[in-house]
Amino acid sequence: MKILFFDTKSYDKESFQKQEKNYPGIEIDYLKTDLAPKTAPLAKGFDAVCAFVSSDVGSATMDALHEAGVKLVLMRCAGFNNVDLEKAAEYGIKVMRVPGYSPEAVAEHAMALALGVNRRLHKAYVKVRENDFSLGGLMGFNFYQKTAGIVGTGKIGAAMARICRGFGMKVIAYDVCQNPDLADFVEYVSLDELLGTSDLISLHCPLMDNTYHLINKETIAKMKDGVILVNTSRGGLVKTNDLIDGIRARKFAGVGLDVYEEETKNVFEDRSDEILEHSTTARLLSFPNVMITSHQGFFTEEALEAISKTTLDNAVAFEKGETTGNEVLKRD
Ligand code: NAI
Repeated sequence: MKILFFDTKSYDKESFQKQEKNYPGIEIDYLKTDLAPKTAPLAKGFDAVCAFVSSDVGSATMDALHEAGVKLVLMRCAGFNNVDLEKAAEYGIKVMRVPGYSPEAVAEHAMALALGVNRRLHKAYVKVRENDFSLGGLMGFNFYQKTAGIVGTGKIGAAMARICRGFGMKVIAYDVCQNPDLADFVEYVSLDELLGTSDLISLHCPLMDNTYHLINKETIAKMKDGVILVNTSRGGLVKTNDLIDGIRARKFAGVGLDVYEEETKNVFEDRSDEILEHSTTARLLSFPNVMITSHQGFFTEEALEAISKTTLDNAVAFEKGETTGNEVLKRD
């Protein structure tokens, strides 16, 4: 099978090349450019393309992939909100993903953001570097015996729930279906109750039509004053302008974002020499209680190894006509 790999970074190539020797039937060409309608025709002659979170796998790209004869889209990530599944189904293009490569990688990063923003580590680090040893502006609150509200208790949400329990927090959750593994320590509540009682809210549900802008003016108004909000799931879950209004209204003790609405152009790019025209990210970063990282939740050695292995296993299963459970199907 020939795979055209889009948006290659050095660490992607390294981890996939380590695995490639175990998959003799697979040949990969690595491209730096990302998948988009204009670059999709490059896949002519390839059986599959491998894409990532910021790739444009929308309608026009699907048209071009179909035209190029591609039969398989290998997403080397869990999320698939950037994929037009209807078009894929129409063309008989199979879409596969890596659903749970290392839930702990993302959950640990979510907790890192929560702790970092609570104790203002981003400020403290810079202050001490400048020989400013004063504590002004650095006060946080104990997580111990506070309430953590987990929205979405799949693999990552469950890992986050376990971490919060380890901190001695009461853990409550909202999900459309309950995770039986968490029954002994998580109490499921309505979204409104979660919003109104949590000291830390961490988002772990997928971005879908019914979760788009889940955090907005109305839901922010229902949150406790002094709450910490963490989003390591997808930017579209939070309506950024409403979040900014909420921060200005002093609603939040802290906000930690690994994902945000306008991240697509930024993700994994060095734009330090550019003048960014319309940046709500810059506006968010102007607040002392906001910490933003650039979609690095997944970025651990363990996760990269699992991603490359599962992606190549998906390719093999596709060739053999086997089903793995990693297929992404059109939503009804
Ligand atoms: P998962 O599929 O195991 O769990 C998602 C959970 O959300 C499920 O329990 C589901 O029932 C629940 N859910 C669905 N609709 C909901 C709704 N309307 N309200 C509340 N809960 C709802 O997914 P997993 O592996 O835990 O990943 C969660 C998300 O994390 C992914 O969708 C992806 O967007 C994001 N992610 C972010 C990464 C990063 O690097 N920052 C890396 C990997 C995933």
